[in-house]
Amino acid sequence: MRRAQQHAIWGRRGTFILAATGSAVGLGNIWKFPYITGENGGGAFVLMYLLCICLIGLPVMVAEVMLGRRGRANPIMAMGEVARESGNSRGWTLIGWCSVAAGFIILSYYSVIAGWTLEYVTTAARGGFAGFDGDAATSTFSALQGDVSKLVRWQTAFLCMTALIIMFGVTRGLETAVRILMPLLFVLLFVLLGYAAYAGDFSAGFGFLFNFRFSDLSMEGLSLALGHAFFTLSLGMGAIMAYGSYMPHKTSIMKTVLTVGCLDTLVALTAGMVIFPIVFASPGVEPGAGPSLMFISLPIVFGSMPLGTVFGTVFFLLITVAAWSSTISLLEPVVAYLSERFRFHRVSASLLVVSCAWLLGLTTVFSLNRWQDMDLLAGMTPFDFSAFITEQVLLPLGALAMAVYVGWFMNKRPLRREMKLDSGVWFGRWLRVLRYVSPALILVVFLLGILDKFT
Ligand code: PFF
Ligand code: NA
Repeated sequence: MRRAQQHAIWGRRGTFILAATGSAVGLGNIWKFPYITGENGGGAFVLMYLLCICLIGLPVMVAEVMLGRRGRANPIMAMGEVARESGNSRGWTLIGWCSVAAGFIILSYYSVIAGWTLEYVTTAARGGFAGFDGDAATSTFSALQGDVSKLVRWQTAFLCMTALIIMFGVTRGLETAVRILMPLLFVLLFVLLGYAAYAGDFSAGFGFLFNFRFSDLSMEGLSLALGHAFFTLSLGMGAIMAYGSYMPHKTSIMKTVLTVGCLDTLVALTAGMVIFPIVFASPGVEPGAGPSLMFISLPIVFGSMPLGTVFGTVFFLLITVAAWSSTISLLEPVVAYLSERFRFHRVSASLLVVSCAWLLGLTTVFSLNRWQDMDLLAGMTPFDFSAFITEQVLLPLGALAMAVYVGWFMNKRPLRREMKLDSGVWFGRWLRVLRYVSPALILVVFLLGILDKFT
């Protein structure tokens, strides 16, 4: 009980939705979703992705929020508290440890990539895309990859921006930030959607996203879709659990999670409907360009379009905002742990954690240039390895452990009490999916991903 009084609660209604949406909406939606959709044939991939969100993403998200709110502490101590109360082994605290560790590793490389968007904001604003052709765009992008000092400068800037918010605490820092950033993000996105509808080839883009061709279904696409469902909803990394721990008791977890899931999907699809019409409007630019879709293809297009300087700047600003609200959710669990467990001041905890993330992030920076050919494991650079170990290993395993714990081991009385605002019918359905469907699917995808990597 005493912990409940020390631990902060969101000051206003709806903050959880904004904060969790801020965490969920990020590079995953605007950069990754469009390019993996482009590489995997469009409509068929979108369909598999939506299935994964419904059958695995949302049920696991409900479980993660519930664990955080029941434990009323940072992910590590929350898991300890829930396990104690349910009479389970302390070993379940491992879920908390794994998720916080995963969040920290993701923070280290996510902030490097987020730094690129800062560089692109400044380039766009200077009118630097004007007259870009394929060669100019490619060489600008590779020049950035090779420029260690520039990469480190932007990485540092991004981590400082992140620490600045978290330092001020849950209600003054985090809550204020998401209340400003999230509406801004939606405004920017809809301005861009209007622009894409006006200046792009809207029907071609729309068709690419939603035309379903049976032949495009593939096992690899399914495995990617599943991994992305976790990544995009920020699951299995403590972020959602930490935010859930600040959630007031009188909110329905299911309704809230449904809202966040819908908003995240909406942003991903809208980003697709911004990017593909713009891509299809210029001949020679490919929808299947992969990771460079956003950093090479789009600048070419903006460089030749009417008002390209303005909208190019708006576009990269949008991504910066989205990435920023995601990195703050990656930092929060670790800082909450240090301050609740060891009584660190939030300022020193934030600075300590971002400094460590900065150091680890240097391995990502060097993977882009000097260590490009390094083979840490199965042909992976340190950056590839960080992405692999989090997205393909820690994240699915963390989510699997949460589903199994809540479905099979957690005491039903505290569980039912946390979910009391959700009808018995939906509670029963959710629990059944969480017990049988989600773990089975996660396990299959996890094994496929590993097999794919090492064969
Ligand atoms: N969900 C974010 C995205 O789609 O970009 C990425 C992310 C943020 C993953 C926070 C994990 C996390 F804890
Ligand atoms: Na996302």
